[in-house]
Amino acid sequence: MSTPRIGIIISSTRDARIGKQAADYLIEIASKREDLSFEVIDLRDYPMPFFNELGAVSLIPTKDPIGLKWQKKLTEFDGFVFVTAEYNGSIPGVLKNALDYAYEGWVRKPATYFAYGSLGGARAVEQLRLICLELHMAPLQRTAHLQGVDFFSVMEGKKQFKDFPYLEPLVEDMLEHLAWWTKALKQAREA
Ligand SMILES: Cc1cc2nc3c(=O)[nH]c(=O)nc-3n(C[C@H](O)[C@H](O)[C@H](O)COP(=O)(O)O)c2cc1C
Repeated sequence: MSTPRIGIIISSTRDARIGKQAADYLIEIASKREDLSFEVIDLRDYPMPFFNELGAVSLIPTKDPIGLKWQKKLTEFDGFVFVTAEYNGSIPGVLKNALDYAYEGWVRKPATYFAYGSLGGARAVEQLRLICLELHMAPLQRTAHLQGVDFFSVMEGKKQFKDFPYLEPLVEDMLEHLAWWTKALKQAREA
């Protein structure tokens, strides 16, 4: 089996986002692994229109050039980490749009979540898991979160993710679980 590839998806695109910081922190830890390879996928590079298709893209292929580029990109990966914020108790709208814009690239692949927010982005992750199920993904139990005053200190620019030593083992554990599922499902998909 070739080295499984993991896409780390930055789920917010606003100018003042901290999502990029979160992804930079995550990939630094992830890159220490030798059994998986990682690539950051920034939704800013895939500015799809608000969904205006004839139907679900699983049934009616999109003709939108950015939608097609997005779909093609996802097929390169064997699993995903969604780096997600929580917007009004759910996922950022731009992420939902991106999820709706693809199908084959998601199916039968594992997904885990690195989330941040006052409650660690937990409510967003719960909803994201349900969306992932609908896309025939395997949403994982093990996740990592930055929450509460620690999150606020990052949001206010007073601290960085790396300033919280407890976070790294949580991220490593999350990736360990992702590795297991990624290899198992890759093998099964290829069989
Ligand atoms: C539209 C909007 C809604 C938000 N709603 C929540 C929320 O429900 N829960 C929460 O913990 N933080 C909420 N926040 C604060 C975000 O956690 C914080 O702004 C975070 O930095 C957003 O991620 P981003 O910087 O990557 O966009 C909200 C922020 C925005 C812009």
